[in-house]
Formats: sequence, structure tokens, C-alpha cells
Amino acid sequence: MQVILIGFMGSGKTTIGQLLARTLATNHIDLDEFIMQKAQQSITEIFATKGETYFRQLEQLYLKQTLKLPGVLSTGGGTPIIAPNAALLARSKIPIVWLSTSIQTTFQRIQNDTSRPLVNDLDTTALIKLQKKRNPLYQSLANIIIPTDELTPQQIVAQIQRQLKLA
Ligand code: S3P
Repeated sequence: MQVILIGFMGSGKTTIGQLLARTLATNHIDLDEFIMQKAQQSITEIFATKGETYFRQLEQLYLKQTLKLPGVLSTGGGTPIIAPNAALLARSKIPIVWLSTSIQTTFQRIQNDTSRPLVNDLDTTALIKLQKKRNPLYQSLANIIIPTDELTPQQIVAQIQRQLKLA
């Protein structure tokens, strides 16, 4: 991998990953998408039928695999929160970009989403708590931080390219 995107649900990891990969003329891998293809099940189905612990095992297995592939990797919101995954990401020496999004923007984007099991299962207070708890972990792993609230996808990609000096 050339760049890794991390951030909370709704921070734009997939959208920005696709656009950044297109701009750099490289591959884009979305870890959730990769897991769904391998498991032949949606993330919601995996959580519902086998539980979050099983999902996290798949996530760790496929994180290891995708880190070896070329391109831009969009992780899941919880990927870097699991200690062994954080260690894998840090050891990889691949530049890590945190797409940082305010709680307000996060909620505008994810509140009506039914495809995210944690959004379905947790109430607003619990989701806010989760984001606040995770932010320092995202921050500690990130080589660069992009506060995305006021930026268009094109501006975010341009900032990533400029800050990481990617042609
Ligand atoms: C999760 C985020 C999701 C997905 C799963 C768990 C999380 O990815 O991996 O539902 O723990 O925050 P997105 O951040 O792409 O929604």
C-alpha cells in the first residue's frame, strides 16, 4: 500500500480513497468491501450471524493481506482501534491519513444509515462516546490529519497529495 486512510464511520474513507486512487492512477481497496467479498456476506450479516468478535478476526486477517497489495487502503472505522491492527499499521511504515470529522458532520452522514451495524445497535449518546474515545487513537497513529468538515473531496485529495508529496 501507498497510503492508508483511517477515521470514524462517515468520515469519507471510501469516497476519498476512491478519488485519491484514481488521481494517483493506482488501485483502491476498501477493507470492508474486501471482507464482504471474501466472506460472501454483508458486514451487517456477519455481525448478525457470527458476531463482532468474528468480524474483527476477519478484519485483522484481511488487513494483513491488503497491506501487502499496491494502492490506497480505506480501513473500517474500528480497524485501528484493535491493538494488533494498530501495531500492524504502525509497523507498515505506510503513510497514514486520519480523515477527522466533527461529531455533528458524522451524525448528518450516518444517522439514517442502515448498513452499519454499530449505527443500528448504538444510540446517539453511545456513538458520540465511541467517537470521542477513538479520536485520540486515530490521532496517535496518523502521519497527517485532515479536518474534512469544510472541504470537498477534491480539496481533501489535493491536501493529501500536497502533504505526502505524492505526484
Ligand atoms: C465499524 C466501521 C465500519 C465497519 C464495521 C465496524 C466500526 O466501517 O468496518 O461496521 O467499528 O467503526 P466504516 O467506517 O467504513 O463505516
